[in-house]
Order: sequence, then C-alpha cells, then structure tokens
Amino acid sequence: MAGKAWGGRFSEPTNEQVELFTESISFDARLAAVDVQGSQAHAKMLAHVGLISDEERDQICTALDDILTTIQKGEMEYQPSLEDIHMHIESALIAKLGDTGRKLHTGRSRNDQVSTDIKLYIRNAIDEVDGLLEELQRAFVSRGDQDIDIILPGYTHLQRAQPVNAVHYWLAYAEKFERDRTRLADCRRRLNQSPLGAAALAGSTLPIDREITAKELGFDAPAANSLDISSDRDYLAEFTSALAIIAVHLSGWAEEWILWCTTEFGFLKLSDAYTTGSSIMPQKKNPDVLELIRGKSARVIAASQQLFVLMKGLPMAYNRDLQEDKLAAFAAFDVVKSCLVLAPSIVINAQLQRDRIESRIEEGFLDATALMEYLIRKQVPMRTGHGIVGNLVATCEAKGCRLKDLSVEELQVAAPQIEEDVYEILGASNAVTALTSYGSGGHEQVKIQLNAWKEKLS
Ligand code: ARG
Repeated sequence: MAGKAWGGRFSEPTNEQVELFTESISFDARLAAVDVQGSQAHAKMLAHVGLISDEERDQICTALDDILTTIQKGEMEYQPSLEDIHMHIESALIAKLGDTGRKLHTGRSRNDQVSTDIKLYIRNAIDEVDGLLEELQRAFVSRGDQDIDIILPGYTHLQRAQPVNAVHYWLAYAEKFERDRTRLADCRRRLNQSPLGAAALAGSTLPIDREITAKELGFDAPAANSLDISSDRDYLAEFTSALAIIAVHLSGWAEEWILWCTTEFGFLKLSDAYTTGSSIMPQKKNPDVLELIRGKSARVIAASQQLFVLMKGLPMAYNRDLQEDKLAAFAAFDVVKSCLVLAPSIVINAQLQRDRIESRIEEGFLDATALMEYLIRKQVPMRTGHGIVGNLVATCEAKGCRLKDLSVEELQVAAPQIEEDVYEILGASNAVTALTSYGSGGHEQVKIQLNAWKEKLS
C-alpha cells in the first residue's frame, strides 16, 4: 500500500524487520468474515446518521462482500506491511472505491474494531463449542441403555471404594460438561456488549450512533465506557478459562479411560479406529488419541495463563501487547475443538468388558460401606459400625475371603445385631442396589437420572 493509512506523520518507511515483528495477519486472517460483518454494520450506521450517503453505504457493503469472497477463495495476498486483517480489508476497499473506501474508518479505530471482531468471533466459537459439548453429552447418555446392567467399582484415591452402576460414570461426565456449557453461556452473556464506536479510547466527536451498530451486530447494548472497552480483554480470559476447565475435564476422562484400557484394569476396549499400533511391538494397541486429549490440555491451560500474564499490569487503554491475545484465544479454541470433535465417537464406540469386570467385581470389599450402613440401621452408632466392619475386612483378608463368605455366626461375633438379612446387602450387586439416596450410584437413582438426561437432550 502506498504508505500506511496513518501516512502523513511519517517521513521514513517502517523498517522491514519491524513490519515482520509487528504483523498479526499471519494469525488474525481468520477474523476476515467478522471484520466484514462489523464494517458493514458500521457503514450502515454511518449512513443512518448522515456521515456517508446511502449510495456510499451500498457501495461499501457490496465491495466488502466481494473482498470477503476473494479472501475466502484464498485469492487475497497477505503482506506484513499491511499488518493485520483490518488493514488488508480496508486497503482492498480503498483500492476498489477510492475516496468512498477512505470514509469507512470514520468514527472508529482499529482498537474498537479488533475488539468487536474478536467478540463476534468468540461468540460463534462459544456456540460451536457448546454444540460439540452437547454432542459429547449425547454420546455418554446414548450408552445408557446398553450399560445400565453393568456394575463398576467406584474409586477414591484410585482404590476400590463402593460399587456404582456403570451409567453413573457416564452421567457424571454429562454433568461436568453441563457446567462447562453454563460457564460458556455466562461468558457469552457478559461479552455481548458492543465495543464498536469507542474508537481509539475516548469515543468520537462525530454524531455516531452506537446503539445502531450494537443492535445490527446482535449485541445486547453498546458497552458503556470507551476507556474500558479499549483495554478490556476479560472476555478472552473468561473464554480461555472456561476452555481450560473443559480441557481438564477431557483430560481426566482420557486418563480414566487410558487406565481402564490397561491389562491391569481391563474394563474397556477402544475401537481400533481410535487407537494406534506400535512401530516395534506387534501386540500393542495404544490409546494415543486419549493420550493426546490429555496432553493437549496443557496448551489450553497455558493459553489461559498466557492471557492473564499478558493483561497483568497493562495501563489503560489499548496497548499493542493486546495483539497477542488472539494467539492464546485461538490456540485454546482450536485445541478444545479438535478434542471435542473426536471425543463422541470414542465414547460411542468403546466397549465395556463385561466378563472381565464381573469376574473381579467382588474384589476390594466394595460392599463394606453398605454393611456399615446396615449396622447403623440396626442401631449401631456409625463410628462403632465403622470399626466393626474394619475388623471384619481384616478377618476376611487374613482368610482370603469376601464379606459375604462369612457365616452369620462369624458375623455375629463381630456384631450381635447382624441377622440373616445381612446377605441382602452383601456383595457388590446388593450393595449397589441398596444405594438409594438422591444422586447416588444405585440402579434406581441412575435410571431416574438417565431418563432426565434423555429428556433434556431430546
Ligand atoms: N492488530 C491489532 C491488534 O490485534 C489491531 C489494533 C491495532 N491498534 C493500534 N493502535 N495499533 O491488536
């Protein structure tokens, strides 16, 4: 471009290395569509208040459509001297329309422009991630009917704890992803105030109408303080934090399933399509996709930290540091999206190894807590019952048997309150059936929750 838009002030051209150092077109080109959207709204407003004519507005809007088409066809040549997507589009507009094109930037600055663009982009990104999270919830819920008769050990400290219906695990993930969705919705609601018209930092002396652009772009209102607008990137900190939590949820799930696929656990078989082989060990079937979902979460967490460190200590209002915001936000979005695109198929196509799970479900005294609660129902104080069952477990360990293998006489030595009906709660299957409190992993509760989820997602 013949001198940059800010031309007059400078007598020397920008140093070439500086151009390469300061450019953002290499990563903000993806804002093209929202940049055009913002500019068209701006042009409509300018015409409405009489700063440009209706004819100029139409010329600008049409030319912007054409420019976007060129970009989307990959026919726009990007050059570092034009810095960013905003300048590329504006200079293409000026090349097409001359003076009419030179009017578009009236009453705005790249500072409000870039923030508007990012907000529009992130709004779409949130909707996309939300849709993908819903797909993943659907995948977990879709396993409900097939797995509802399977009992899995529940763990704490990765030690066998209490038995739960297998579907309780699936719905636990559905809950986590539901909270993730509400976090994104909160973020979307808070970000939905229009920056456009804050101009550089102080607003404008021109009779611009920020309500018009806000409405046109689907914002709830114009944001109220131009200084704040120029410096605000809270919405990106919130967005990437919400994504980091999603990544952590995905990573925890991946870790759990990686464990479940080991010979040691043997709970789960992943479909071949979502595993890889080893270049040297012919027998290997590796859960690489899950490992990478776990591994890539690091980048999302890092991106959210990157934004906090970037924003920390910046004075009002816009500082060029903020240009780096997009690198973090886009990285977090891209990674989470790539994980969420794959996750539902992994969930749907995995198979629980029923026989293997069942063959070991009586190991680990999963019914011990149920026995303790049986004693409580027989008027034994909780702490006393805890001690009694602890002793019984030690006895079983010494004998190499399970609680349900003890005779009623043996049990009565530990606690005379115990009767024949104790065998109705001993064993993993009885113990899981006996779980009836709201939100528990017992069959009845899980069925209720499963139906609620089916309805919610239908
Ligand atoms: N590329 C810049 C960014 O992403 C656009 C805003 C530039 N503003 C400025 N005052 N230099 O932040």
